[in-house]
Amino acid sequence: MGTPSVPHAIQLRRSIKSFTSRAITREEIEELLGLALLAPNHRMTQPWEFIVLGPEARRAYGRIKGESRARKVDDPEAAEAVRRKTVAQMEALPAMVGFVQRLDADPEIREEDFATVYMGMQNVLLAAVERGLGTHVKTGKVLDAPETRGALGIREGERLVALVHLGEPQEIPDAKPREPVATRIRHLP
Ligand SMILES: Cc1cc2nc3c(=O)[nH]c(=O)nc-3n(C[C@H](O)[C@H](O)[C@H](O)COP(=O)(O)O)c2cc1C
Repeated sequence: MGTPSVPHAIQLRRSIKSFTSRAITREEIEELLGLALLAPNHRMTQPWEFIVLGPEARRAYGRIKGESRARKVDDPEAAEAVRRKTVAQMEALPAMVGFVQRLDADPEIREEDFATVYMGMQNVLLAAVERGLGTHVKTGKVLDAPETRGALGIREGERLVALVHLGEPQEIPDAKPREPVATRIRHLP
């Protein structure tokens, strides 16, 4: 792949479900996260913190996530298989980064800060494409569970906004269809 332009990177980006075993270095991660900081940020609150999960932390999170998935499975053996599979999946990820928002006391600033954390995340997602890497944004109630907060060291006054999987894609899925933009634009005179 050559060097994609921004629109090209936008078009190539997918949520990647499977990664090769190629390791992602600390330098690669830090370089990508440095680009998150350049997102637009009203009042320059710089509300982000980044948590890079090593294998032990990913295992710990996998146990929590696995437990949450297993609760939806009646058969105990199947539930145990879900637990094991989830731990193995999280452990096998080349890299996982938690995007954390420092929560401002003012709800308006909090909302803007949430947006800026996601804009930073998108910088990372697109820059990753340019580096031949793939990403997957993961959210859900489990992120705010006390067990997750404890395992990842999320502090009081912070919100774990998303966990982003990162690695070299094993398989790149087709783009999911979007409705034509013309159906969503209202031009005002
Ligand atoms: C805020 C946000 C949260 C998401 N959370 C999840 C998630 O918890 N699990 C998941 O599998 N995908 C999650 N995704 C990925 C979307 O499912 C994915 O972007 C969508 O299916 C479109 O596919 P694409 O990213 O390949 O274009 C999330 C995406 C966003 C923007």
